[in-house]
This record gives sequence, C-alpha cells and structure tokens, in this order.
Amino acid sequence: MIEQKADAFIPALRFNFLTPFYDWVLRVVMREAAYKEALMQLITVNQGGRILDAGCGTGTLTVMIKKHFPQIEVVGLDGDRKILLIANSKVFLSGDLIQLDHGFVTALPYNNYSFDACVCSLVIHHLTTENKQKAFHEFYRILKPGGRLYIVDFFTPHNIFMMAVTLITQFFEETYDNFHGKLREYIPTAGFKELEVRQNFWTPIGTVSIITAVKH
Ligand SMILES: C[S@@+](CC[C@H](N)C(=O)[O-])C[C@H]1O[C@@H](n2cnc3c(N)ncnc32)[C@H](O)[C@@H]1O
Repeated sequence: MIEQKADAFIPALRFNFLTPFYDWVLRVVMREAAYKEALMQLITVNQGGRILDAGCGTGTLTVMIKKHFPQIEVVGLDGDRKILLIANSKVFLSGDLIQLDHGFVTALPYNNYSFDACVCSLVIHHLTTENKQKAFHEFYRILKPGGRLYIVDFFTPHNIFMMAVTLITQFFEETYDNFHGKLREYIPTAGFKELEVRQNFWTPIGTVSIITAVKH
C-alpha cells in the first residue's frame, strides 16, 4: 500500500512549478465550467449557512460559490500555501469576504458540526486510499446533521470513450480507487447516507462525476 502522511499533499498539477498554469489547464483542457456550473445548480444551503470548499486550490470554485450564494459564509481550505496565495489574490479581486485557511482534508482545523455543506472538487484523487477514507470521516465530522457533501471528482467511466481513456489514466496519481467506483464504498462507510451520482462529464482524463451525500 502507498503511504502518504496526513500533512502531505500532491500539488494541483502534481509538480509545484506547474501550479501557475493550473487555471488555464482546468479551463481549457479539463472543461471545469461544465461541472462547476452544474454543481452550482445542485447546492442547497439555507441563508446564513456555512460552506467549506475543501482543497480549494486557486479559489475559482470558492469565489463562484460566494457569487452564487452571497448570503452564506464561504470558507476555503488547502494544504498548499503556494496555491493559497493565488486563491487569496482571486478572492481580493472578487471583492468578496471569504476565509481561506491552510490545512489538510485528513485533519480539518474545524469543530464538529460547524458547516452546513462541504464541497470537495478534484481533490480526492490526490489522496491515497487511507487518506481518502480519513477525508470522508473528517467531512462527516465537521458537518451538522442534515449537512450535505458535494464531491466532484474522477469516477467510474460513463461511456465507452471514457472507458478507453481510463485504461491508461487509472494509473495516474491516486486515481485508481476513483475510476473503480470505490467512493461508493468509502462515503457511506464514513457515515453518509443518500449517496447519489448526480451528473457525469467527459474530460480528456476520464469521467468526472458530481456525487452528493447527506449526514443524517
Ligand atoms: C486539482 S486541485 C483542485 C482545486 C479546486 N478544488 C478545483 O476544483 O479546481 C487539488 C487541490 O487539492 C489540494 N490538496 C491535495 N491534497 C490535499 C490535502 N491532503 N489537504 C488539503 N488540500 C489538498 C492541492 O493542494 C490542490 O490545490
């Protein structure tokens, strides 16, 4: 089994020197607008609620959430201090009030029951099996009862083309569990109910799905 310390992380594009190109790659190559816009239509949080963007990266989604839901408190967290600098400037330019924290999804620096929703986009495939499971337990811990989890990540191929691409990309980073549907097992094991795969999207690396679950 591959080991990854709780405070270790794989940078957004695997290597630090590639981080400045992350936004371009996501926009142009990875079709981020398709699934991030779709996610906005699925999120439900009551006015005055609090939402965590776990592994917020450069903050694109974090700012998007705040723009869509101005009445809620948005918090972004990432393990990479360098990428948080980019996120900070994006938040500054947006003019919105968003808290950005340094921390790890495997040991979130928040109290139990402190969020109404947790979004985690394209992060789980960066984690080893053990850390994927730890992260889902942490998401469960910080959510209030009734709180919703929104995962956007690589998942089981949804058509023959994605199946072909995945024959190779399943061995990139820690994506194997994702492409082999293991999140269906890990999310309920952490305590979540009502797991649903809401939408699938093609990307050059394989299917990206939006998965939702609820803490009862
Ligand atoms: C591919 S980027 C996704 C960024 C953003 N969520 C998005 O959708 O564009 C993955 C991010 O997860 C962060 N990350 C990886 N492992 C982490 C961990 N264990 N704890 C917190 N952040 C982590 C990386 O630093 C990176 O910013």
